[in-house]
Amino acid sequence: MHMKPIAAREGNHNLKDYEQVYKNFDWKEINNQFSWDTTGKVNIAYEAVDRHAEDPNKKDKVALLYSSPDREESLTFAQLKEKSNQFANVLKKHNVEKGDRVFLFMPRSPEFYMSFLGILKVGAIAGPLFEAFMEQAVHDRLEDSEAKMLVTTPELLDRVPQDKLPHLKQIVLVGGMREGNQYIDFEQEMKQASDELEIEWVDLEDGMVIHYTSGSTGKPKGVYHVHNAMIQQYATGRWVLDLKEDDVYWCTADPGWVTGTSYGIFAPWLNGVTNVIRGGRFTPEDWYGTLEKYKVTVWYSAPTAFRKLLSAGSEVANKFDLSSLRHILSVGEPLNPEVVHWGLEAFDKRIHDNWWMTETGAQLISNFPSLPIKPGSMGKPIPGVEAAIVDNEGNVLPPKQMGNLAIKKGWPSMMRQIWKRPEKYESYFINGWYVSGDSAYMDEDGYFWFQGRLDDVINTSGERVGPFEVESKLIEHPAVAEAGVIGKPDPERGEIIKAFITLREGYSQSDELLEEIRLFVKKGLSAHAAPREIEIKDTIPKTRSGKIMRRLLKSWELGLPTGDTSTLEE
Ligand code: WTA
Repeated sequence: MHMKPIAAREGNHNLKDYEQVYKNFDWKEINNQFSWDTTGKVNIAYEAVDRHAEDPNKKDKVALLYSSPDREESLTFAQLKEKSNQFANVLKKHNVEKGDRVFLFMPRSPEFYMSFLGILKVGAIAGPLFEAFMEQAVHDRLEDSEAKMLVTTPELLDRVPQDKLPHLKQIVLVGGMREGNQYIDFEQEMKQASDELEIEWVDLEDGMVIHYTSGSTGKPKGVYHVHNAMIQQYATGRWVLDLKEDDVYWCTADPGWVTGTSYGIFAPWLNGVTNVIRGGRFTPEDWYGTLEKYKVTVWYSAPTAFRKLLSAGSEVANKFDLSSLRHILSVGEPLNPEVVHWGLEAFDKRIHDNWWMTETGAQLISNFPSLPIKPGSMGKPIPGVEAAIVDNEGNVLPPKQMGNLAIKKGWPSMMRQIWKRPEKYESYFINGWYVSGDSAYMDEDGYFWFQGRLDDVINTSGERVGPFEVESKLIEHPAVAEAGVIGKPDPERGEIIKAFITLREGYSQSDELLEEIRLFVKKGLSAHAAPREIEIKDTIPKTRSGKIMRRLLKSWELGLPTGDTSTLEE
């Protein structure tokens, strides 16, 4: 069977191909790439792993190529199938059922990937948590999702407030044990578990993954994705990542964030490609070393990382043989034109920007390999996706006019719920458009240009932080009366978190106190959510209805005109 869009990828494509071939594209054209098109049985873990494990030409191909400073390991598709089957059997033994939420809170390791896939194989919903989360952040997510089981490590267990989580019945410990009958020993139970599994066949619309993400108000919300997302994750793996049979692919994102699942697990494995996973901390030498050692051909990372490599200098890059690289991509924050130019210098390759969000489940706007890059632009919508700039009523605006970046409802990987909050979910859609919260404009050639966030969400080193969550933590400190939190522009991190606070009676400003408050947030939430700057004020500006005017704080910080302050409290 012939698939037009993919044929276009493999040919000598140019802008004309994009416009002709991708017009009138129907997502159904992709269905025939999956087993369920003939069997009627669906499970994304089957399509990502078992399907290749059952293919005599693919089963012994390396699926997972893991390395960290102290461990190196690889698993073929056949081995990954067996290991994830075993973990699925462990889950079954402990009565995990379809639709249950099973969360993962652990560093990147082969065990993470076995567990994640095993959860999907029993039809449960996987909830990966970023390993740097501290107690409050872990608690809020496990409580809201009513997770029944958690897979974690003995080292991270102290950050799990078990007494405050009535739904959490069982904890699987990877890499060591603790006393207590709620603990399941991963290593021991895996040894006893069969590697033969009756996989749970689900519906395309059944739940698969929940990622928690931040908005400008309220606690983090559970963005709920379904198995159907595989259609778009697979297709963008080919169109955008340009994955081919023999590629060695490396996505640097942690699976606690959506890029680390959609593009660190699904897109590469649905396409049957060798997937490099690197644990441990970031240093330029280490990253270049990984590219060189595994002869990575396709590399997906983020502007913050590229900026760090850039500031380390081209001399560092030149010490390594990076000639295997064929395609480099970036997501998560605006990709500065300067970085695109540096990519040419350091790798002799352009860095291809693309745009999407936790809520969208997969890439929507992209600089395809076939598109001429306009540095600074996020590119054009992928086939089957209609993007536009709309006003607040959902009316489409003409080219060059700034407004809300919006996507016509109905792409395959779209979130299907905000967990337990249907009214919140509905609030994203206006007049048939999903409204992203980003402002942008479209130029006359149909390229989209990012301008900023329309709400107060902070993007620090590509990680989304909600100001409300940080403010709530700050005012739990005994010295803090009120707090307002903003993103302050920063050349390396994009934005840093800056907090304005007022002090309670009896406290006075000192460097020690500010550092103590910073650490308090760091220990409660996570390092990336802790304010890098804290400034003490006499009052925090609020509206008459009591909402913190972060916009005004930001104008003060940047020395900009303060605009309309008519709603400001006396
Ligand atoms: C921002 C990450 C500029 C944007 C996949 C979006 C970008 C938010 C780009 C989603 C880009 C993502 N250029 N900004 N190419 N890609 N963003 O949910 O503000 O962690 O709304 O998903 O990151 O972040 P999230």
